[in-house]
Amino acid sequence: MAWPPYRLMERDYLAEAKQKYERIERLYHVGHKQAWDGKQVLKDLLAKHGGIHLDPAKKTAIAQIFSTILWGELAAWSISADLALQLEDTEAKMAATIQVFDEARHFYTMRDYLLELGCEIPKLDGYTHAVLSSLLDTHRLVDKLLGMQLIVESIAVTLFKTVAQARIEPVLSDLMPYFERDEARHVGLGVLYLPKLLAKISPFEAARLKLLQLKIVTLIGWGTHLKTPYFVQLGIDSNESFRRGMRLNREVMEGLRSAEGEEPPGVLIGAASSERFNDLAVDFFFPRLGADVPSWQRKIVSVIEGLSKVGDHALRLAA
Ligand SMILES: [Fe+2]
Ligand SMILES: [Fe+2]
Repeated sequence: MAWPPYRLMERDYLAEAKQKYERIERLYHVGHKQAWDGKQVLKDLLAKHGGIHLDPAKKTAIAQIFSTILWGELAAWSISADLALQLEDTEAKMAATIQVFDEARHFYTMRDYLLELGCEIPKLDGYTHAVLSSLLDTHRLVDKLLGMQLIVESIAVTLFKTVAQARIEPVLSDLMPYFERDEARHVGLGVLYLPKLLAKISPFEAARLKLLQLKIVTLIGWGTHLKTPYFVQLGIDSNESFRRGMRLNREVMEGLRSAEGEEPPGVLIGAASSERFNDLAVDFFFPRLGADVPSWQRKIVSVIEGLSKVGDHALRLAA
């Protein structure tokens, strides 16, 4: 396409874009208004709570879970910059641009928090590495929007809510709502803009995208198994947070339906029957904390946890 795109100044084009993408442009303006100073917020929270006081085992557990978030923020930063570069509609470009600022702030604030925690920060697990590197490497905008903005970001929102409520460590719990509010806007960009990109995909592409979603969700499920001991250490119920995550993911995916209620091609939207099945699967693989679980089920779950370590090792070697 010729550059500069003079149509961006045509009044008819502008009127149509305003009508179609006004809500997406609003994400940019709201993002501006809600921008916060990560340095100041962290400094104030540390002063308010008198620093971070936690026993070493809990610190290690936080480092294990939040190293994933740290590198996830760095990936989100690059991916939103890719989107800002490649999206053509200026409203979506604006929303991606403000997201770049948000993710930069999330990265340095999380980095500073983890440095303040004062323990060793483990390397990224193999499952998350596989998900994030595939989203970073792909040139496909649809994969980036679906994988990062809708799946990974909504999982991050769930984790932030869970950690805020668990009150494990007050500085971190008070920090979470700042992150959560920004991430919700990033999910909004995916929900509002993806239907446009999906409208023109082929059946083959739709099938490929459904497989991609299954792959991401499966890898994240294995990654969660791997982190289970750390969630237990922090008193976080993986069952509750997985259910919450799936509920949020369903709501997000439902948001992609057209005004007439049609599913966009290429998106996995859970039917009511599969919802029940999903809940049963979560109860089986992630038993509630303190639940009375039969010994045969406990054995299967511990085999899966063992397998998750084997898979992690293999993926780390392959990376
Ligand atoms: Fe973020
Ligand atoms: Fe984000």
